[in-house]
Amino acid sequence: MRKPVIAGNWKMYKLIAESVALALDLKPLVANANHCEVVIAPVFTAIKTVADRLEGSSIRVAGQDCSTETQHGAHTGEVAADMLRDAGATHCIVGHSERRHIYGETDAQVNSKALAALAAGLTAILCVGETLEQREGGDAEAVVRRQLEGGLRDLTASDLDRIIVAYEPVWAIGTGRTATPEQAQEMHAFVRRVFAERFSKEAASRLRVLYGGSVKPDNIAGLMKQTDVDGALVGGASLEAETFAQIIHYDR
Ligand code: PGA
Repeated sequence: MRKPVIAGNWKMYKLIAESVALALDLKPLVANANHCEVVIAPVFTAIKTVADRLEGSSIRVAGQDCSTETQHGAHTGEVAADMLRDAGATHCIVGHSERRHIYGETDAQVNSKALAALAAGLTAILCVGETLEQREGGDAEAVVRRQLEGGLRDLTASDLDRIIVAYEPVWAIGTGRTATPEQAQEMHAFVRRVFAERFSKEAASRLRVLYGGSVKPDNIAGLMKQTDVDGALVGGASLEAETFAQIIHYDR
């Protein structure tokens, strides 16, 4: 059985004190959420404080991005994956659509980031997803295949248990427009097929594939009912403890 993962991507929101307050508000609300893994991704500057304050809780902390570089050196503005680990992170998001579309990240860079995260001992949450134009042009699968094959290049069998894929259709992120459970299921099954071709059926059957894009308390249950939906990557609705906790407790 695949254990679901519900991850909150806080994006560029919240100062350190606000991040700590949100994490501490969330902590008691999810203390008994043993049915899934809960991950939160604060801004870099808040990771250490949030992780310290969550010690002893089962909530895990993620970076929202990491450097392609693994050697410490003259890379102004970059944060290496082992620095995130050092700050208390256990996970790292790579290839989020905002990084791809606003900052022009390529599949090769996303791949280097995934490899860097894995090398640092982190679990990488690799985001993939097509734009509206690509979907309407009938290219959704080709785009997601390219992002997966590019992003997963050079991964070895020993890495596979520390890879999570988040399928996030770009047209659903922050728009209030969610994929239907059927659309999500179709793409998640496709992700798993590509993973099986690339690695093995066995590895694919263990892969957690999260859905992301306007996940809210009122649409999570329908998504989670789908065979190949193993959790969610939540943006806006993760910024408020009660709302995020309702998503985490989708099974009630
Ligand atoms: P959203 O963001 O839930 O606000 O649509 C999801 C994401 O960007 O990961």
